[in-house]
This record gives sequence, structure tokens and C-alpha cells, in this order.
Amino acid sequence: MIDCGSRTPFLALVYPSGTCAVVAVTQLLQAGDHAILFDSVYHGTRTYLSICSDLERINVSFVDLRDHHQLEKHIRDNTKMVWIETPSNPTMKMIDIAAVAAILKKYPDIFLAVDNTFMTPYCQNPLLLGADIAMHSLTKYMNGHTDVLMGAIATSNDTLYEKLQVVQA
Ligand SMILES: Cc1ncc(COP(=O)(O)O)c(C=O)c1O
Repeated sequence: MIDCGSRTPFLALVYPSGTCAVVAVTQLLQAGDHAILFDSVYHGTRTYLSICSDLERINVSFVDLRDHHQLEKHIRDNTKMVWIETPSNPTMKMIDIAAVAAILKKYPDIFLAVDNTFMTPYCQNPLLLGADIAMHSLTKYMNGHTDVLMGAIATSNDTLYEKLQVVQA
């Protein structure tokens, strides 16, 4: 647990790669669930979620969430996750995390996951902007040289943390 003084404490889990962290978050979904992804996410994330769509029967919508007003048009009764990446790899498209989180406050069953790989927690902390999960490929800027392969997930949501611990075990 990371001590953030008066702020909500964050819980973190580490993984053998960023891709493993992506897969772990996806394991929070069940067959029949719907996920909304930013349409410019890292191609590995897009490919994996597309495979989930076929094999795990997860329904996935890819939406240009640079205009966050588009989000609610795509929310369904079975939507469980919104996944964004800002800035995105490699297109450097940006999303207003706080605006997306504010919309999702109305939908307590939907969690917001942010791939924060490009900004690192040094420059941007999605949890402080209202996200439920901040995911990182530590292989990239956090490490600096791609000589270490590693991923991480941070959350301030106890329920998601407990589920992620089960998935990790
Ligand atoms: C934004 C983003 N997320 C996830 C990943 C996957 O991370 P890893 O290479 O550590 O598996 C990458 C890799 O390029 C990335 O750029």
C-alpha cells in the first residue's frame, strides 16, 4: 500500500509485463459483459480485447472518446468497463480523464481503467482524476531503457483490488 498522506491510499499489483496487466484487468469481466475502449489504444490492447470478444464472449465497442460526450451513447445495461489510454500509443490522442470519470459516477457498476504508460505517475495520476484503475507498462518510460519487462496496476477500489489479487494468484 502506498501512503498518500490525507489522500485515499492506493493499492498496487505488479506483473511480468504491461500486457499481463492488461490481461489481468480484462479478467475482471465475465462472458456477456460489455466494455467500451478508446479506439486509439495500443494495438496489443486492441488485439487482446478483440480476441476476448471472440473467445470469452465479451462485447467490445471501440469509440473515439476524445469527445467524452460520445460515451453515454455507447453505455449499455451490461457495460462493465471503460478503458482509455491518454496520450495513446502511437497516435498521441488525448482524453479528458476527469470528464470521463465524472460521467461514470452515474454508473456505479462500470469501472474506469486508464493505461497511463505514456505519462507515468510522475506526470499524470488517473486515480486522483477519478479513475478506478491506473495501469502501466513499466517496460516503457518508467524503466527508461526497455531492459526490464514489467507491468503494474494501481487502484483505490478495495473490491477491484481483491478480485485482481484472485486473478493474479
Ligand atoms: C500504452 C501501452 N500499453 C501497454 C503496452 C504493453 O506493455 P509491455 O510491452 O510491457 O507488455 C505497451 C507496449 O508498448 C504500451 O505502449
